[in-house]
Amino acid sequence: MCGIIAYLGDKEATPILIDGLYKLEYRGYDSAGLSVLEHKNLTSYKCTGKVSALDELIKEEALCGTIGIAHTRWATHGPPNDINAHPHNSEDDKISVVHNGIIENYLSWKSILENKGYHFKSETDTEVIAHLISYFKKEFKIGTEEALRRILQKVVGAYALVILDSDNPETILAAKRSSPLVFGIGDGEYFLASDVSAIGQYTDKFIFIEDDQIINIHRHEGYRISSLKNESIPAEIQEIDVQIEEIEKGGFPHFMLKEIYQQPQTIADSMRGRYHVEDKWVSVGGVKDHLDKFASIDRLIFVACGTSWHTALVAEYLFEEIARIPCEVEYASEFRYRNPIIRKNDVVIAISQSGETADTLAALELAKEKGALTYGIVNVVGSSIARMTDTGSYTHAGPEIGVASTKAFTSQLCVLSLMAIQLGHHLGRLSDELYHTYITELDSLPLKATKILSQDEKLRYIASEIKSASNALYLGRGFNFPVALEGALKLKEISYIHAEGYPAAEMKHGPIALIDLYMPVIVLATNESVLDKILSNIAEVKARKGIVIAIINEGNERIKDAVDFYVEIPQIKETLSPIISVIPLQLLAYHIAVMRGCDVDQPRNLAKSVTVE
Ligand code: AGP
Repeated sequence: MCGIIAYLGDKEATPILIDGLYKLEYRGYDSAGLSVLEHKNLTSYKCTGKVSALDELIKEEALCGTIGIAHTRWATHGPPNDINAHPHNSEDDKISVVHNGIIENYLSWKSILENKGYHFKSETDTEVIAHLISYFKKEFKIGTEEALRRILQKVVGAYALVILDSDNPETILAAKRSSPLVFGIGDGEYFLASDVSAIGQYTDKFIFIEDDQIINIHRHEGYRISSLKNESIPAEIQEIDVQIEEIEKGGFPHFMLKEIYQQPQTIADSMRGRYHVEDKWVSVGGVKDHLDKFASIDRLIFVACGTSWHTALVAEYLFEEIARIPCEVEYASEFRYRNPIIRKNDVVIAISQSGETADTLAALELAKEKGALTYGIVNVVGSSIARMTDTGSYTHAGPEIGVASTKAFTSQLCVLSLMAIQLGHHLGRLSDELYHTYITELDSLPLKATKILSQDEKLRYIASEIKSASNALYLGRGFNFPVALEGALKLKEISYIHAEGYPAAEMKHGPIALIDLYMPVIVLATNESVLDKILSNIAEVKARKGIVIAIINEGNERIKDAVDFYVEIPQIKETLSPIISVIPLQLLAYHIAVMRGCDVDQPRNLAKSVTVE
């Protein structure tokens, strides 16, 4: 997804902008650019490729100026090329704009402006904003902020816009609708960014710009946040301490591997303060604050995308097994476009690492319109979903930089497990004995995760055996079916090997036709309750010369002889097993991707946070 950073202060802007773009690379992009303003002289540079290419491009240019904007572009309208990269400038180069989002009705405005003699250079939607500001200023003889205010009442779509105006060289203007934008307040300097990780090293004071707000930042007069009706809006300054080492690789070759290895810690962090072994209790704040609502709950509806949707699938098994609460799992993108039935005793739970996924946000808005209590399971503090839901729980996994989600998935599962256990016990559907057993099992998770990580070399060896495959099949039953889907997603999104996850019993209804000696089949075989069935599935694959890799419980001798490779995980209650059975699949995908020379942290075409439809 596009990344934005802007600076206004007493330092040279360029190094701060470039450093911020590097920190935003994880969002996924295909080109980058910046504009710097010195007195009234606005200079812009942009190019396709990595931030390092932009860095190289400007190296010989003695760029001066203490005010600037910069952007990494994830193409929506117009292919990745130099012209379509941001910033986009007005014809007189007085206005420079960077944008994250989509202007849905840009074509109609583009044709209006072309008929008035404006010339467009790019195929992007964003360029229309630069020309519209020029046009509105001239046509109505108004200032840049008023022009922006009027334009925003006429454009349709999602945006985080940041604008430089050489007629107002001491000012940065910005506006927000749907796409994230955070304002950082330093000591005599100001920052804007798509998320706090790009500017957390300069300040811990942030204001999250809300939808349909404009911020005017002036070097000497400070800042003003206003509505589209030009009403001043007092904004709350939030203090967030972004640990710099958290957004660095910490000696690992890739963020993804670092984040896989962080899981013993992040699993512990996600549960910290939410259970107690000795005193034998589980208490998640967001649930405790709405216990009356949950006590009369009819149904849980989960809305999410991608890996978070896989979390929701596991949650369905968890809540129905432990708390006996009916659940529905919905792709957020599907939920938002049909007319779902939501009853007053339904609770809608949105699961999202970034808290900015456009489809999930839209599904939540629909749920709120229909009067449901909305609950967010989010990782990024202060993100849009965290701020729009009635209540929720942060997963406390820390910044997840690798595009492929790993620690966020296991942290989400921990929080949802706690919620299911708490509600199950509160509703009298979970015996004290089982309640206490679960608490002990939860407490054992970090150590068990550590034990699995110690098998990394074995995963690397298995990866070397199957890295040349073109297709792969992941099979799992019960709780492990969503884990099979997640394992397949990990493999395909970073190694570009086509991979599918399937309920193991479904194999004979189609996928078995694919099995041959070139098709690795990864089987999640940790559920003792259906072991005989899984052994039959394995035999069916072996009979067709398929390669079988099994994730098994420690000591399960029966399966070891039936498969080509196996990885053992420590014994854990089946309901909690996805939290650790996914770890070998994360490592397997990671090693295969590295062996195939793929860009593990920034896979092609992917974005870390999909803030557009
Ligand atoms: C997962 O590895 C992918 N990066 C992607 O499927 C992701 O889970 C999805 O876009 C949802 O993101 P969210 O959790 O931030 O809403």
